[in-house]
Amino acid sequence: MDLKNILKTRKEKFVRDNLMSDEFLEFIRQNKEPYDMLMSYYRCAIMEVETKFKVLNEQFSLQYDRNPIEGIKSRIKSRKSLIKKIRNRGIPITLEAIEENITDIAGLRIICSFPEDIYMLEECLLEQDDVTLIERKNYIKEPKPSGYRSLHLIVEVPIFLHKEKRNVKVEVQLRTIAMDFWASLEHKLRYKKSIPENQSQELARELAECAEISAMLDERMQIIRNKISSVQENGDNKRA
Ligand code: GTP
Ligand code: MG
Repeated sequence: MDLKNILKTRKEKFVRDNLMSDEFLEFIRQNKEPYDMLMSYYRCAIMEVETKFKVLNEQFSLQYDRNPIEGIKSRIKSRKSLIKKIRNRGIPITLEAIEENITDIAGLRIICSFPEDIYMLEECLLEQDDVTLIERKNYIKEPKPSGYRSLHLIVEVPIFLHKEKRNVKVEVQLRTIAMDFWASLEHKLRYKKSIPENQSQELARELAECAEISAMLDERMQIIRNKISSVQENGDNKRA
């Protein structure tokens, strides 16, 4: 037998004797169940917060005949990027430490029609008595050097389980269609690693400029909308 085959046989024996032993499988089972349970709490929290936004959209649609929300996206952080973050930040590998320190396991992205809708929805969410604000980052007022704009909120909401109530953190990113358009494309371009350093700096500058242009467009669209609604209101008042 050549060396390659000897190593292959040894590896297979190691896996059979160690990684497939009853003790090891029991170890995985004991750790996997609490992890799966924790992830299911985050999925429930996403459902809770998503419903809150859907209810607000529905109410606005009935009351003012318009939908401030263009779309909602949600995601649970993948196991891979969760492990990466735990490692990079040196967080202890316990469920409590993960729950406490990693605030973006449950993520919701709310795409709004106009910039003012973002703050209006934020206010509507935060005035609900079961929502607690943990952290707020306004990257619209202070965009990131990349040009990234969005309003980030970390909120805590209760989820009601069979015999227990748990508070769970959810990261909510609120942005306009224009901000989302820019962030999605920039995210795609960011992973194109084959670009040489000198060119990538130039491209980064250009991307930041595109974000500015996009923000100006948002502003103009907001002004147009405000004009239209004031004309509408005047018309309504005259008729009344
Ligand atoms: P993370 O460890 O990345 O979560 O950093 P953080 O906790 O300081 O969060 P931050 O406020 O920077 O927001 C992180 C999230 O915002 C990312 O997961 C992205 O969804 C989004 N984001 C932040 N900066 C950028 C950016 O420059 N470009 C794009 N496309 N998205 C960004
Ligand atoms: Mg984050």
